[in-house]
Amino acid sequence: MSLRTVFEGRPDRRYVMFGGKGGLGKTTLSATSAFWLASHGKRVLLFSVDPQASLSDIFQRDIFGKGPVSIMPNLWAQEVDADRRIRDYQDEIRKKIIDMYGFERVPEEIDNYIAAASAEPAMEESAIFDAVVDIIVQGDYDYYIYDLVPLGHALYYLSMAKVYDEWINKITKLREDMGQYDRVAATMRRQETVEEDKILEELQYIKTRINASSQILTDKRRTAFFFVLVPEDMIILDTRKAAELFARFDVPISGYVVNRVLPPELGRAPSLPPYLRSRISMQEKHLERIRTAFGDQVLAYVPEMERDVTGLPMIERLAERLFGNGR
Ligand SMILES: Nc1ncnc2c1ncn2[C@@H]1O[C@H](COP(=O)(O)OP(=O)(O)OP(=O)(O)O)[C@@H](O)[C@H]1O
Ligand SMILES: [Mg+2]
Repeated sequence: MSLRTVFEGRPDRRYVMFGGKGGLGKTTLSATSAFWLASHGKRVLLFSVDPQASLSDIFQRDIFGKGPVSIMPNLWAQEVDADRRIRDYQDEIRKKIIDMYGFERVPEEIDNYIAAASAEPAMEESAIFDAVVDIIVQGDYDYYIYDLVPLGHALYYLSMAKVYDEWINKITKLREDMGQYDRVAATMRRQETVEEDKILEELQYIKTRINASSQILTDKRRTAFFFVLVPEDMIILDTRKAAELFARFDVPISGYVVNRVLPPELGRAPSLPPYLRSRISMQEKHLERIRTAFGDQVLAYVPEMERDVTGLPMIERLAERLFGNGR
């Protein structure tokens, strides 16, 4: 099995993610896979919620907060501006308050409260989560490649779907129960039927959206989740631990990609400086450990290029190394 055979043999796995610790090559591999799929006629959206604007960096284009930007035929890249989503949220809340209470404008105390609530980290995460849901439930592309932030956060987002879901289940149940009492009370007071429960409706709407997205993200038939690692002691250890955690959150792992492998031809060079010779033999040992730990779940060994992977020509070169030349 290789990355290529996974893509070719499993075209139904349309939601693709590369997870791993910071700086190991998630964005690089996401962009390279997106490039390869797009050049094989698939419509691909590569997206990120990273405030670091890493897709702007790799494509050397300013795409931050601009919606899906066309990079080449069949390939679009999108960087969600989470801060702007939060401001939109605030405006929406203000508008609802004005409509509900018939204010001319939102009273200052309430506005302060809205601002304070938006500074909460939970608010930012829920804005980001919402943006991801928006992107993946729309379904206009053949592939959605989610360029993840480093491991801990990624895990958090994925688990968030589960937590949200349980939380909303509880609240919905509570409101349904309350609704019954409301109706009884209304009948006793001979009132017209109580007005529809707007909040309950809203919750049910959120729930369908979250269900749709968490099902997608944890569905082995539709999702390909790859782990990126490099041949280094600590990283191998961390990857094994993380894989266990992901298993606990029911995130299916489709395989491992080993990045930054020194080119094997280097080792055959006749006069190699001792420094390099030592690095190569160290890497050999780590690669051996990776083979023992992950075996045939390793889908690719990605060479360390002579410079950073930025710009389409460089991405294309890496794609050729990674997927082979055959189109
Ligand atoms: N095979 C490679 N050869 C050469 N340079 C590489 C290779 N893979 C990654 N790089 C470089 O390493 C740096 C980090 O890679 P990248 O941004 O893809 O990592 P990341 O996992 O997305 O990082 P973060 O966790 O910050 O999002 C980049 O400068 C990238 O160009
Ligand atoms: Mg990245």
